[in-house]
Amino acid sequence: MSATILPVSDPNAIDRAAEILRGGGLVAMPTETVYGLAGDAGNGQTVARLYAAKGRPSFNPLIAHVTGVAMAQRLVEIPPLARKLMDTFWPGPLTLVLPKREDAPISDLANAGLDTVAIRCPAHTAARALIEAVDRPLVAPSANPSGAVSPTRAAHVAEGLGEKIDLILDGGECPVGLESAVVAVTGETATLLRPGGLARERIEAVTGPLHAAGESDAPASPGMLKSHYAPGAAVRLNATEAGAGELLLGFGTIEGDINLSPAGDLGEAAARLFSALRELDARGAPTIAVAPIPGHGLGEAINDRLRRAAAPRDTQ
Ligand code: TXA
Ligand code: MG
Repeated sequence: MSATILPVSDPNAIDRAAEILRGGGLVAMPTETVYGLAGDAGNGQTVARLYAAKGRPSFNPLIAHVTGVAMAQRLVEIPPLARKLMDTFWPGPLTLVLPKREDAPISDLANAGLDTVAIRCPAHTAARALIEAVDRPLVAPSANPSGAVSPTRAAHVAEGLGEKIDLILDGGECPVGLESAVVAVTGETATLLRPGGLARERIEAVTGPLHAAGESDAPASPGMLKSHYAPGAAVRLNATEAGAGELLLGFGTIEGDINLSPAGDLGEAAARLFSALRELDARGAPTIAVAPIPGHGLGEAINDRLRRAAAPRDTQ
C-alpha cells in the first residue's frame, strides 16, 4: 500500500508524523533543500529500515537533523569555527561534520560507525516543527531511491518510495532545490565535502578558503559516489543544442525544451533542476542534453549534480 500524503497545513499533520517517528516509523518531510526521509536517529532498527528502503549502502552515513545548537550539543563537539558557522547560517542549507560525543544518542549505523556526525538545522517550518515535536534528532537522507534524482515535491517521493515508508508530509515545492552544502570542521580547518544549497563564497566569507575533500589531511566524504542524481536517460553536458533524439535542458539564452532560468539566475536554476530532469526523463528521450551553467555561486553545486548525473552508471 502506498504511503498516505498529508499536507503540512492539516492541523493533525505534525502530531501524526511525530507519533509515527516516535514509534520507529519512516516519514518523508519537506525541507528547504529537498524532501528528506526522516527516522529516529537513536533507533538502530529504524535506521536499518531506512537504508533498506532507499537501497543505500550502509557505509554512507546520514545527516542528523536538529532544532538548533542546543540539540546539536547532545551529539557533537562544537569547535569555535563551527559555532560561528552555525550562528551565521543556521537554520539553513549548511550541514556540519563534527567530532561525535562519546555519549551521543545516535545509532552507530546512522553515522556508519565513524567518529564524526553530520548535523543540519533545517529552515523549513514543517521540518522544524516535526523535530521539535519528536524532541530527538532525526536522520534524513534525501527521500529517493539511492542513486536517483532527489525529490523536490511530495509526488516525487511517492513515485520513488511510496510503498516503503509510513507517511509523506506534503509541504509543496522545496525552495532551494539542491541538498545542503556539507562542511567538515576539525579545529580551525574547514573542508567542503559536498557543494550545495549554500554557495561556497558565502561560507568562505566566514571560514576563509575551504579545503578540498581528498586533500591529504582532509576528512573523506564516504557518500560522494561518482554516479548519483541519475535520471533514467543518459545525460550529456555543455550542449548548445539538442542532437538527434535528444531533449535539451536550457539555461539563459539557450532556450531548450525546458529552461532552468531564462534570466540566467542560478538560484532559480537550482530550485528547478531536479524537477526539470524528472520532467524531461518522463518525456522519454534516451538522452538529456544540458546547456552550460556558470560555475560560481550555486552553479558549483548545480554542476556537481549534473556531472554525477552524467557519470557512467556502472561505477557505482
Ligand atoms: O539537504 C540535505 O542535506 C538533505 C535534506 C533532506 O536535509 N539531506 C541529504 O542527505 O542530502 P543525504 O544522506 O542524501 O546526504 C548526506 C551526505 C552524504 O554525502 C554523506 O556521505 C555525507 O553527507 N555525510 C554524512 N555523514 C558524514 C560524516 N560523518 N562524514 C562525512 N560525510 C558525511
Ligand atoms: Mg541523497
